[in-house]
This record gives sequence, structure tokens and C-alpha cells, in this order.
Amino acid sequence: MTEQDFIPKSYLKSIENGSVTWSSPSNIALVKYWGKKEHQLPQNPSISFTLDNCKTVTTLSFSKKEASNNFSFEVFLDGEKKEDFKPKIETFFKRIEVYIPFLKDYHFVIETSNTFPHSSGIASSASGMSALSMCLMSIEMMLNPKLSNTFINQKASFLARLGSGSACRSVEGDLIVWGLHEAIEGSSDLFGTKYPYEVHDNFKNYQDTILLVDKGEKQVSSTVGHNLMHNHPFASQRFAQANDNLAKLIQIFKSGDVYAFIEIIESEALTLHAMMMTSLPYFILMKPNTLEIINKIWEFRQDTGLPISFTLDAGANVHVLYPEKDAKLILEFIKNELVAYCQNGHYICDKIGFGAKKIDN
Ligand code: DP6
Repeated sequence: MTEQDFIPKSYLKSIENGSVTWSSPSNIALVKYWGKKEHQLPQNPSISFTLDNCKTVTTLSFSKKEASNNFSFEVFLDGEKKEDFKPKIETFFKRIEVYIPFLKDYHFVIETSNTFPHSSGIASSASGMSALSMCLMSIEMMLNPKLSNTFINQKASFLARLGSGSACRSVEGDLIVWGLHEAIEGSSDLFGTKYPYEVHDNFKNYQDTILLVDKGEKQVSSTVGHNLMHNHPFASQRFAQANDNLAKLIQIFKSGDVYAFIEIIESEALTLHAMMMTSLPYFILMKPNTLEIINKIWEFRQDTGLPISFTLDAGANVHVLYPEKDAKLILEFIKNELVAYCQNGHYICDKIGFGAKKIDN
């Protein structure tokens, strides 16, 4: 597939107005995307677990408007008009206009809500951009009913990527690769694809308990963060390492070796933060409680042998990852020992999920 394949040639039908609703989850990267080229193309391939409970629900209503050269839309979060969301969506519309030529034919009302609190430090861009992209693809489907499901998902992921890179990994589940990797068939820089090889039962239904250490606004926006990888002294080694780690995961997913898995994903999380600490300007995005939690996890793993592990986003919150079969003991430990380090004791229990879902209006 190339970008050209996503430009519609013509539409078979026309439609005056309507409304579609989709829910789409967040995802958590195991091998991290950090650093991008022009047009939202990643510097290295990444892989993520799609989540289940942390999601955005978006209704997109559309009505034909007079032809004009402007986008016309309103955005609501939890029923409240959000003027401050408009610039990001305007930028998104500009980037995708060539692929969605009907964008200027309609007035749109975007009504969105998240299942996780807005001020949780959990980014809603992945779930939000993928939900909106699925809504747009539902409209494209109405205009062109012959499109296949494979094409719809691929194009939705392609559009979502243009909104926010990691969003392209939220359209489907449960394990999604984004970025060309020579050992992974079908992988592409343009959109996320389902991981195509054997995955051991140990990695099915993996659990993710998200410890909300710091619920404040992101200290560094992802755009600023990715840009720090331009002229970064360790950039080329880092991109090579991500490729290596993804290659190593192929054998690990097959064998079910959770300890080898842990070594890779924890190293990925710490490398992501190391990149931020060694860029100019430099940032420390972990908080003291992030380190307390990491040390407790290591201690507990040492003492019990249970395969508990962590990963981090570009912030202070900790994603605690573990197999479903060990959930009882590990959750007990989390509640007794780790929740005390969370802001107001807040945490979210999530697990692997299977991507965006259409909701009947
Ligand atoms: C640290 O997808 O938020 O979560 O493409 O600029 O929107 P933009 O960035 P974004 O970056 C996510 C970075 C990360 C790692 C990851 O999810 O792979």
C-alpha cells in the first residue's frame, strides 16, 4: 500500500446528513515510538498492546453545507463545548483532507467522552484520534459501500496516524506493530498492522494496572518530545535498538518466556526516559514515586519470582504489566504496596483489548 491508495477516486452515493458513533481504546507501547520524520512517519518500528477499558467514545454528526473552502465543525467533551480542542482537529483535517475529500462538504459536530478522567495524565490522543478516524471511515463507507473491512481498518489507522502517531495502533488489537520492520511481514510506516506471528498463551489477556502517580498536564508535549530526537547524540543507536528489541520479541512471544519479555519492555521504558534525560533541552519526567514503585516491583519480583513488570509513557505514571494467571497475587501486592504512591490513591485496572467498536446510535 502507498499513500496514493488511500485517495478515493469517486464516491458511488451522496448523503445529506447522519451520525455515527465509535469507541476506541488507548494502547500501551512495549517497544516505544520516540522520534518521527515528516508526515508523521516513525523513526523506528514500535509494538503495543491495545487496551480495553481506557477508551474514547466519539459521535460524529454531519450535515451538508454550502460549498466553501473552510472546515466547519464544533467539538464537545462530556457535553461541554471545547474551543481549545479545535486547533488540533483543524490541523488533523488539513493533514487528511486529500484522503477524505468530503471534509469541506459537511458541517460536523464532534461529541466525545473518555472513560478515564481527563486529568489522569493518560493521553487521550490515541483513543480520540482513532475513534474520530473510524467515524470518518463509517461516513466514507456510506458514500462507497463496497469498501472492504480490511481497507477500512487500514485507512482508519492511516488517518489516525496523521492525527497522532501512536493512535494508529488503537484501531485493532490485541498486539499491533507500526513501522516497517524487515522481519515482520506486512509491517508499514503508514499504518498499524496486527502482529502476524504465533503468540504464546502467557501473553494472551495480559493485565495492565495503571498507577496514576501524577495526574497533571504533560510536562513535555509529544510533539516537543519527538523533536528532541532530531540531533540527539544517541538517536541512531536508539533507533537500531528498537529494531533489535522488536526482532527479539518475535521469539519471545512464541516461546512464552515472560522473563525475557520483561527485560525488553523495562529496558524500553527506561531508554525512553534516558532519551529525554540526554536531549537538549533535557527533562526528567519521572517523579520520586515513579522510582519508589519501580523499586518495589523489582523487590517483589525478586522475592516471589512472579513475572510482574512495568512500562512507562512519556510521563510519571506507571503501567504495571503481568499475565492473567498471576493476577490475584499481583493485584493484592499492588493494592497493599503500590497504590500508596499514587496521587489520591488513584489507579485504573485495564487489560489487553481488541480495538475500535461501532456503537449503534
Ligand atoms: C512515549 O503518538 O503521542 O507514548 O505522533 O506527536 O502525536 P504524536 O506522538 P504520540 O507519541 C507517543 C509516544 C510514547 C511511545 C509510544 O506510544 O510508542
